[in-house]
Amino acid sequence: MTIADGRFLACLLLGAAALLSGCEDEGGGDVPANCSTNEASNEDEGERMRPGGNCITCHEDEGEGPRYTIAGTVMGAYHDDERCVGVDGVTVEITGSDGKVLSLDTNSVGNFFYTGSVATPYTAKVKSSAGEKAMTAAQSDLNCASCHTAEGASSAPGRIIAP
Ligand code: HEC
Ligand code: HEC
Repeated sequence: MTIADGRFLACLLLGAAALLSGCEDEGGGDVPANCSTNEASNEDEGERMRPGGNCITCHEDEGEGPRYTIAGTVMGAYHDDERCVGVDGVTVEITGSDGKVLSLDTNSVGNFFYTGSVATPYTAKVKSSAGEKAMTAAQSDLNCASCHTAEGASSAPGRIIAP
């Protein structure tokens, strides 16, 4: 049984007490070891699910839920673990090889997702009132999480983080 399942059961058993402890809403639950925001999202479906998780493996490859071309999470620090809540209100800007610019805003757990098409290779940057951070190299893989893992794969520094 996973932590999330355990928490769900505990919430069911606690019944009315769940309303007070917040079981219904944010997902809450145990905060992962590396988590700069010190808040977890243990939701398993919906827009606040699995921040930092590999969205596209399920939402495209395995045919679960809607098919996303781009999806991912902007987190608080490079080595934040999956399910650590990311950063709200950051704009992820993707520029396709056709010059089309797409702006996606992160939600309350830092997640962003998009179902339209993007011409590759593309460039990406993240923007907020604090400034911006850009990816220097153009990429062809639209699955940000294949490189922006907690450890960082294919030379990425780790997570996509807020400026
Ligand atoms: C382990 C597989 C898996 C991963 C990883 C995953 N999802 Fe999901 N997602 C699902 C499933 C299953 C559903 C429910 C689909 C349904 O109800 O038809 C879902 C539902 C959703 C929904 C609601 C869609 C709708 O219209 O009802 C959103 C939004 C979503 N996921 C976004 C994300 C994002 C963003 C990520 C990455 C940060 C992510 N998911 C990672 C499997 C996954
Ligand atoms: C194939 C691997 C790969 C994929 C896929 C990828 N990136 Fe990156 N990303 C990198 C590497 C490597 C760097 C560091 C070097 C550079 O900037 O080009 C980086 C850097 C970044 C940075 C700057 C990081 C910093 O802290 O300065 C941002 C922002 C970024 N990527 C966003 C994205 C977004 C958004 C996506 C998905 C739409 C994405 N990346 C997909 C490999 C990848």
